[in-house]
Amino acid sequence: MSNHYLSIENVQKTFGRGPEALNVLKDINLTVDRGEYIAIIGHSGCGKSTVLNVVAGLLDASAGGVILDGKEVNQPGPDRSLVFQNHSLLPWLTVYENVALAVNKVCAKTMNKAERKEWILKNLDMVGMSHALDQLPTQISGGMKQRVGIARALAMEPKVLLLDEPFGALDALTRAHLQDEVMRIQADLNNTVMMITHDVDEAVLLSDRIVMMTNGPSATIGEILDIKLPRPRDRIALAEDPEYNHYRREVLRFLHEKQRKVKPLQKAPPAEPARQAQQA
Ligand SMILES: Nc1ncnc2c1ncn2[C@@H]1O[C@H](COP(=O)(O)OP(=O)(O)OP(=O)(O)O)[C@@H](O)[C@H]1O
Ligand SMILES: [Mg+2]
Repeated sequence: MSNHYLSIENVQKTFGRGPEALNVLKDINLTVDRGEYIAIIGHSGCGKSTVLNVVAGLLDASAGGVILDGKEVNQPGPDRSLVFQNHSLLPWLTVYENVALAVNKVCAKTMNKAERKEWILKNLDMVGMSHALDQLPTQISGGMKQRVGIARALAMEPKVLLLDEPFGALDALTRAHLQDEVMRIQADLNNTVMMITHDVDEAVLLSDRIVMMTNGPSATIGEILDIKLPRPRDRIALAEDPEYNHYRREVLRFLHEKQRKVKPLQKAPPAEPARQAQQA
């Protein structure tokens, strides 16, 4: 057995059976140390979410397995919390209540009521949401909802934080802001993180290593890039930094030269015209 905190060993995943079977993942091997920030990047449909879902215990691997802190993962658990691109807050609960639901479940044995309340408030404060405790999800912006989702995930103190394109649905400014906050929180808490992204800058800025996946079917890990930029990292200063730009080019080269998306044989149907934005 390896000494690594998280270890993905020979994972394969096939969906369906017989002639319909689709082999999505093949020979996925990855070890992650405690406190490491890993980004997974690869073309759409290659199997990134499938990898994360196997680590989360939401999907069973067809072969191989995942070991976290010495234990095999075979179902979802509070030691792995997942944040998706689109927030998954319960619409009838307030910001506070959405986080409380998770904390009351996971921390019921370790904290009393007052301690849980303090913990919920602390985590919401960490993501800058203390001002909106009593708002419902429909009353706050997309970026705010993602913050609450991150607070909820952090409040469970998972061994691994699994982020599936957490900033994917946000505008560029909000995204940059949240990336900076995640870096700050990461510097404080030293979480172990696996984050899927399509954004090359985001991957280089946030990670210690970038795992680059080959195209499917039977996708696997093509290359792993070590990002040795010192922390804390500043996006403005890095924009001109030759080392930063070298890493960026390496990822782009992998995605657009080595793993160029093969053109589909059939012509895609014509795109629907974009819907007009509604006038207020
Ligand atoms: N539950 C499922 N049943 C059958 N096929 C699935 C299932 N989940 C995923 N797939 C297939 O597995 C492949 C990989 O899907 P996955 O969602 O992991 O890709 P991805 O890399 O996360 O893509 P994207 O970047 O678009 O989110 C796709 O071909 C998808 O259709
Ligand atoms: Mg995905």
